[in-house]
Amino acid sequence: MQLLVLHGPNLNLLGRREPGLYGVSTLEAINAALTAQAAAQGVDLACFHSNHEGALVDRIHEAAGVCDGIVINAGAYTHTSIAIRDALLGVALPFVEVHLSNVHAREPFRHHSTLADRAVGVICGFGPASYSLGLDGLVAHLRAQEPA
Ligand code: DQA
Repeated sequence: MQLLVLHGPNLNLLGRREPGLYGVSTLEAINAALTAQAAAQGVDLACFHSNHEGALVDRIHEAAGVCDGIVINAGAYTHTSIAIRDALLGVALPFVEVHLSNVHAREPFRHHSTLADRAVGVICGFGPASYSLGLDGLVAHLRAQEPA
């Protein structure tokens, strides 16, 4: 099984960005932990970060026919990007939306997601563990669909 983790804008600042909200783990540490978690389950994991909407769209397109699913923290694009939604629907890959913070306990503009209604599931509020839980959830979802 090959999965992709996507990180959107400003997540490269993790570790020093609003640590009260987002914690102190760096993006590199999160990716390393996810890669180890995936490997322990026999899953190949690719991780990609960009601050640019089009680069995220391009990476989603590249996943078509290669990846089995995507874990995505689209950052602020979660709340605005029809392009990322369309890319995910365009490649027809199952995806899980994750957020470090509980977006529903924050400003009203963070309550809406352009992705959530088409996600396999949404996990938010657990810091870096949101990614870990999202990865486990996606693997379980995909394994449940494998032929017996
Ligand atoms: C975030 C929540 C978004 O609202 C915000 O724009 C981010 C990070 C999170 O992981 O909590 O950049 O996606």
